[in-house]
Formats: sequence, C-alpha cells, structure tokens
Amino acid sequence: KMKAFVANLMTKMTLEEKIGQLNLVTPGWGVPTGSVVSKGVEDNIRKGNVGGLFGIFGPDKIRQAQALAVNESRLHIPLLFGLDVIHGHKTIFPIPLGLSCSWDTALIERSARIAATEASADGLCWVYSPMVDIARDPRWGRIAEGAGEDPYLGSKIARAMVKGYQGNDLSKDNTVMACVKHFALYGAAEAGRDYNTTDMSRIRMYNEYLPPYKAAVDAGVGSVMSSFNEIDGVPATGNRWLLTNLLRDQWGFKGFVVSDYTSVNEMIAHGMGDLQAVSARALNAGLDMDMVGEGFLTTLQKSLKAGTVTLKQIDDACRRILEAKYKLGLFQDPYRYVNNARPDKEILTPENRKAAREIAARSLVLLKNDNKILPLKKAGTIVLVGPLANNHTEMLGTWAVSGDNSKSITIQEGMQNVAGNSVQITYAKGANITDDTAFAKRISPFNKPTEIDPRTPESLIQEAVDAAGKADAVVAVVGEAAEMSGESASRSDLDLPGSQRKLIEALAKTGKPLVVVLLNGRPLALPWLPEQAPAIVEAWFAGTEAGNAIADVLFGNYNPSGKLTTSFPRNVGQIPIYYNRKNTGRPYEGGNPKFKSDYLDVVNEPLYPFGYGLSYSTFVYDTVTLNQNTLHEGQSITASVMVSNKGDVAGEETVQLYIQDLVGSVTRPVKELKGFQKIYLKAGDVKKVDFTITVNDLKFYNSELKYVAEPGDFKLYIGTNSRDVKEAAFRLVK
Ligand code: IFM
Repeated sequence: KMKAFVANLMTKMTLEEKIGQLNLVTPGWGVPTGSVVSKGVEDNIRKGNVGGLFGIFGPDKIRQAQALAVNESRLHIPLLFGLDVIHGHKTIFPIPLGLSCSWDTALIERSARIAATEASADGLCWVYSPMVDIARDPRWGRIAEGAGEDPYLGSKIARAMVKGYQGNDLSKDNTVMACVKHFALYGAAEAGRDYNTTDMSRIRMYNEYLPPYKAAVDAGVGSVMSSFNEIDGVPATGNRWLLTNLLRDQWGFKGFVVSDYTSVNEMIAHGMGDLQAVSARALNAGLDMDMVGEGFLTTLQKSLKAGTVTLKQIDDACRRILEAKYKLGLFQDPYRYVNNARPDKEILTPENRKAAREIAARSLVLLKNDNKILPLKKAGTIVLVGPLANNHTEMLGTWAVSGDNSKSITIQEGMQNVAGNSVQITYAKGANITDDTAFAKRISPFNKPTEIDPRTPESLIQEAVDAAGKADAVVAVVGEAAEMSGESASRSDLDLPGSQRKLIEALAKTGKPLVVVLLNGRPLALPWLPEQAPAIVEAWFAGTEAGNAIADVLFGNYNPSGKLTTSFPRNVGQIPIYYNRKNTGRPYEGGNPKFKSDYLDVVNEPLYPFGYGLSYSTFVYDTVTLNQNTLHEGQSITASVMVSNKGDVAGEETVQLYIQDLVGSVTRPVKELKGFQKIYLKAGDVKKVDFTITVNDLKFYNSELKYVAEPGDFKLYIGTNSRDVKEAAFRLVK
C-alpha cells in the first residue's frame, strides 16, 4: 500500500519537487544548533522546496508551518518536523552518558518513551537520537551524548532507545521516528578534538565501533544521520562504502539518511570539490536528505544535466523520505502530532517528573565512601558549597534544547526537599566554575555566558571555609559548566576548571566530613580528589529532577547503583583508555621491568575502571562455577556465581560477565563485556546469578571480516566491575 501510494504521488512530482523533498531546513525563529540558519523558509515551503523542518516545537508553530506546505504547496505534501530531543524533551533526563550508568535498558527505554510522548505532544514526529558513537576519549565533549566505551552495552542501549521512541507503530500520535547518529565513528576523532579526522582499521570498526549503529538498524530505526568526520579519507556524508555498501547492502537498512548540519557543504573544506561536486558525491554515496546547506536544492539539477547523478538516485532518495512520512501517518493526517490539548496534559507532568527523579537517581555513581560518610544523617548543619550547588542554569546539561532551566531542581532545593526542616542547610559559593571571562564566553557563545562572581577566588574560598567550620558535614558540588561538554566542547585539560580544586583542598583541611558531588559531562582526570575527599558521587548532569535525585542518594532514600560506562583516566596522557584493550607483545603485568608497554610516570590502570560503582550495601562475590568446561556448537554453558549482600541495607548490584578469547587468528581484547544482570538484594540476602554462554557470544569479525567463533581456550570473568572479577576457564570445541 505504502509503495503504491508513494509511487503514484511521485508520478505527479516535477524534478524540482522531488529535489525539494531532499531539503531539510531550520528557520531563524527556532533553536540554532549549527553555524548558519536557513533563509526564505516560508517561501521555499510554498514552492515545494522543503521536505522537513527542524528546530521549532509547539503545536501552534508547527501547525503554521505545516499549513504552508499542506495548503500552499502544489502537491500538499506534509513536512517532517524534527528536533534534537536527546535526553528528554521538556522533562529532561540525565545526559545519555549518565543514563547509561544505570545499566538498566528498561529504564532507558522508558526515558525515551516519555521523551517521545512529550515531543509528539509538542508537534514533533522525528528526533535526532539515539547518539550511539563509541567514545574512548573524554577530551571529546560529545562523549556526554553517548553510552560510553563499550560496544555490547552500547548496542543494548541503542536498541532500547529506538524501541522507546518508535514503539511498535510509528503512525501512532505518541511515537516518533528515531535517527541514529552519527554514522559513523564520530567518537574516534583524533586527539578528542571535535570534527577531527578519524582513521581506523576495518577490523576495529566492525568489532568495536559499528555494533551499536547496527543494533539500532536491526531494531528498525527509521533514519540515520551521517557524521562530520572522514573515514578512509572520505567524509562520511560522501562515503559510498559507508552509506550504501555497509548500511544498505550489508545491513539491509530501509529508511533514509540525513546529513549532519551542513556536512554536505563542509566537504568543500575537507577538500572534495565545490558545492556541486560535493552534493553530487553525497547523493552518489547514498545520502537522501541535506540538512540546512541546500547543496542538493541548488545543484542537483545541474548535476543531472551534467550526468554526474542519475534520476534514479534522486527518485530513490525522494521515495525514502516520502515513505518515512507515510509511516508516520502524515499523509493520512498532516496534523497528527498537532493537538493543543496535549502539551498541558502530557508535558512535564508530575508522573514524568517522578520518572525523571527515579531515573536520575539510578544514573549516579558512588565513587568513594570511606567510613560510611554517606548516607548523610537528616540532622544537624550541612554546609553546601560550590558553583553548581544552587545553579538552575547548569542542571540540565548539554543538548537540552527544549528544556527549561527554571523548571529544574537545584541540589540545594533537593536537599531541603528531602531532609525537610530537620537539617539546617547553609550555602557558600566557594568558587566560580571558571574565573576566566574569555573561557566563560567560549563555553556557550549562544547561551547566557557562565556567570562569574567578581569576588576574588581567595575570598570565595575563605567564605566557604568559614562556613564549613560551623558545620557537621560539608557537601561540595563542583565540576563543569553544562556547555563544557557536548558539541564543539573539547578540552585538553580534564582537571576541575578555575579554583575549584583549591576550594576542595581548603575544605579538606578543615577536617570536616567532606562529600564531593561532581557534575560533569565527561570523565574528568582527578587523581588528587580521592586523597582529599572521603566520599565522592559522580552525578553527571542529571536533568530536571537532578537536585531531588542527588539528595535522594546523599540522604539514603535511594541506595546508589550506577556503574561507570567509561574509564576515568588518571591524567590526559593515558587517553585513549578503555577496559577492552589488547595485551601487546610486552604486557604491563610481569615481564622485563624496562621493556614493557607502560609509562614512566603513571600506572596503566585508570583511576576508576569501566563498570565501577559502589553502593551503601556491601556485595560479596563467591567463586564462579561452570556447569561444564567445554562448549559445542548448538550447546551452551551456564556460569554461576553466588552474590551476597553483607551490608546492612538493601541495594541493587549490576553483576557483569566478561569473556576473553585466549588465542585467535587475530589478537583479541583482554576482556569483553558479554552479559550483565541487575539484581536486588535485601541486607543479608544471597542470590545465585546465572549467565548462559553460547557460541554466538564468542563470535568476532576476523581479518576477512567474517563473523566467526574460533575453537580454543577462553577465560570467563564475573564481577562487580571490569577489574574486580572472579574467573573460570572453558574450551570451545568444534
Ligand atoms: O543532531 C545534531 C547533531 O548531533 C549535531 N549537529 C546538529 C544536528 C541538528 O541539530
């Protein structure tokens, strides 16, 4: 039915109208997420020169724009309406890196479902999420937007998010089309500098970087966004191997591919030719929709005449975009997502906020808790210190384009909400996020610049130290400004900015119990921090309900269960650092003390490893047992471990399974995540956790890029993080 409808419509379309469908615009009256905005949008819609519009939301605005297309263009073809709904629309959830630390795919799916409901209630039918780029370099600001460093976990999360956004029926008015991005390898930018060159072997791509994109495609994602970077010397947006051979021919993707913001035009700067040449290259590669740059709109007719593109290529791209509109139900009802009664009933509802609070609490990671300083008692005086402790503007984190800062809960508000009047909470700023005005402007040139208190750093610290002297406990909330991570927010120094480190050191000297809460969009390199603070909570940017969720954890209303999904380096020199590394021929462990793969000035291990996170409970793992030590094709092995909660409170633990292939036709990682289970244990309880391992779990891409499992010896590890594990061994026989 869809095919026939679209084919019939296309018989009526002129070449100009077909090319018009390939044009995606963002008007100046929307949210700018790139360097230029589209001109003459209304006129172009009337002329049939626009296929979709992004950067606006709200039923009135969207109705107005849709009416231009439906009433005033010749063929009345409805527009797609997209937006960067990345971690929630108006109810903002933790930044995706934080969300991933919940290791709870059902919860993550729920956050995407709520985001889809809110976005569609606001007129949108297309979201630019999930971002599934594997990232091993915390200098890269966009590490905040993904699920961390692991392809297995990243794939599970990609699938969950696609399901959450799209549901089972895209034509429903509360589901939206997802757009997996940035295809591909965007997270591997050299030196962590955004938009920088990417270069890697195919075998690494297939085994380590591509799986999450493929998982999204397998889950039925409706659209794919090409990335800014080059791959094998050809920018992704013009890379035929990537967009056609891999995506369509090998993976069977049936939806449409949209460029990133002006990434067609940016191929000129990459050195691939003029606008006509790069636009033709992009269409030839398999790109269907051109975001903002209008290279398709202004040059494809000329290229057709010149014979550098074919009509079939234009038809294919147009058909895919019309099919997306059909699947969304827009031909039946162009105003399907436009309903003025919905926003009030469905956006930022108490239920959505409740979910955001629960989800945010589960994304927090307890990094240190000596002498059970946490949870805090709901009594006495707490001095709350730090530039991020009562700052509405920084709560939502990066890429919350439709979020409203003023609706967020600060940590000060949250602590007061949770502890009530039984605790006296006083506040002292202690430090600016940065004291450097030029840097503050660079952080967010479009938004309000990060505020700088004019008092001297010394006087701010002194004020905080004086306040701490009168307190029973000190909570210091420090970290980055929200816009210090995200797009075009790379950093070469991963310490706390400004005088925040000095503030912590001064507070530590007071001898008062000190809890440090970190708000940041990336792993920071803070090797000095555990020496100063007995308790550390990594809170990321936790969204609208951040303050309440953080207070829930600080006061023990929720027992923290988050686990890191990226390794925390000790210093920038260790980067890239990731747990699923190779051994090298001169491994770090053992061997000659000089001629081994290490550093003279720092150990190889990260400060906190992948999978790490503490709880107020104490989980103890018994030895790992296997039901058999040999695995045959078609069979499975069960690996079991008893986990007990020896603490005095109930808690959740994510039990992690890793496998190592000891001998391969190509070198294999020292460990790879192959399973995880989140369990709940009451104080004193013991639970048996079973993992089933099949031949499929042992497969990898070999040097011919065949997906195989090779017979031989394997090690299996189960533990509380990627470092602290119990092991067993088995053999695969064929
Ligand atoms: O979706 C984003 C992308 O992640 C980065 N460039 C702009 C796009 C649209 O806003």
